[in-house]
Amino acid sequence: MTADLSVLFTGIRFENPFLLSSAPPTESESNILRAFEAGWAGVVTKTIGVHPVINVKGPKTNFLRADTESPRLSMKKRPGTALHSSWNWELISDKPLDWWIGRLSRVKKEHPKKVLIASIMAGSGSDEEMRHWQDLAKACQEDGADALELNLSCPHMDRPDMGSNIGKDQELISVVTQAVREVARVPVWAKLTPSTTDIVEEAKGAFLGGADAISSSNTFTSLPLIDPEALEFEMNVEGYVSTGGLGGPAILPLSLAKMAQMTSAFPDKSFSGIGGISDFSHALNYFLLGCGTVQVCTAAMLDHAVGPNVVRNLIRGMEEFLERNAHRGWERLEDFRGLRRDRVVPHSQIKRPDDADYHGGYGAEGQPAGAHAGTTAK
Ligand SMILES: Cc1cc2nc3c(=O)[nH]c(=O)nc-3n(C[C@H](O)[C@H](O)[C@H](O)COP(=O)(O)O)c2cc1C
Repeated sequence: MTADLSVLFTGIRFENPFLLSSAPPTESESNILRAFEAGWAGVVTKTIGVHPVINVKGPKTNFLRADTESPRLSMKKRPGTALHSSWNWELISDKPLDWWIGRLSRVKKEHPKKVLIASIMAGSGSDEEMRHWQDLAKACQEDGADALELNLSCPHMDRPDMGSNIGKDQELISVVTQAVREVARVPVWAKLTPSTTDIVEEAKGAFLGGADAISSSNTFTSLPLIDPEALEFEMNVEGYVSTGGLGGPAILPLSLAKMAQMTSAFPDKSFSGIGGISDFSHALNYFLLGCGTVQVCTAAMLDHAVGPNVVRNLIRGMEEFLERNAHRGWERLEDFRGLRRDRVVPHSQIKRPDDADYHGGYGAEGQPAGAHAGTTAK
């Protein structure tokens, strides 16, 4: 019997829970078609906007690699290394909305059973910007998008009213989500930035605005490293650099921490997990924390641009996992989704050698830390 990998997520049927995230693998019609043929159940398009997009001179993405025999980390290509992370300062799609319209419907016509999610982005400083969100949403859904993902998370925007600058403001997230919700006939997913203090607040803003799901994480704000010989950043334009986004293996544990906060605060809501996934064991973390789908970028970029081997391994990994766990009665994702969500607890709830000695960093009678020697939290 072949395993049933299909999932129902925000009311949409996916043939498996594996999606390509909004990024270079989904920047063109030919890539999206190749991705569907390779086995991805859904793709989120490269973010579509209405403002002018001009990328930096030179490369927009590079990959940091770790030596296996020494502590060296560098973007320089060399043998005997393992991937640490991707670093990018690429803006959203440099193709205008008009370019996308017509292509979305063509892709959908060729693959009616696959799920096409349009990632969109506008500003937030005025009524006109709210109209931009609505225009993008209407245009994409009319051209066949099955869902919309709001990019509230791009970490390298100059405009203070865009990208992760919206994603750091609970109220703005609500206002933007609500504006899109007013015109949307399809599910609306909000993609949040991990660069916030308490992502539960931003998630609350998105759900209050009517989001059907949260996608997390976008890349983490970061810098490339400085080459110790040349004394220059490994990625720079004429010596200069600005902060960009870190993706890939290095962010898997970071992104999981953000996801765990949200899935335990909103156990009944829908979450799409992103960050550092390249095989099923990685995706499984997100599923066990409660996610209903996962999305992949860096690993796919490094595998023939759209990840044919990555998706094959994800599918095979899930089939084998279901087979191994058939004795537990697990037949589909829903049977194990969220099983480890409740295992993430406050530090004070973790067992001590003698629980009677520990009072959450306070003294025995609840005095502030330091009132009693030896009772301060580390
Ligand atoms: C080169 C590059 C471009 C990206 N462009 C977008 C984008 O346009 N919109 C978006 O929402 N996320 C964008 N992302 C973020 C990815 O979709 C994803 O959230 C992030 O890379 C983490 O996943 P990963 O660890 O699998 O790479 C981009 C990432 C990279 C590396």
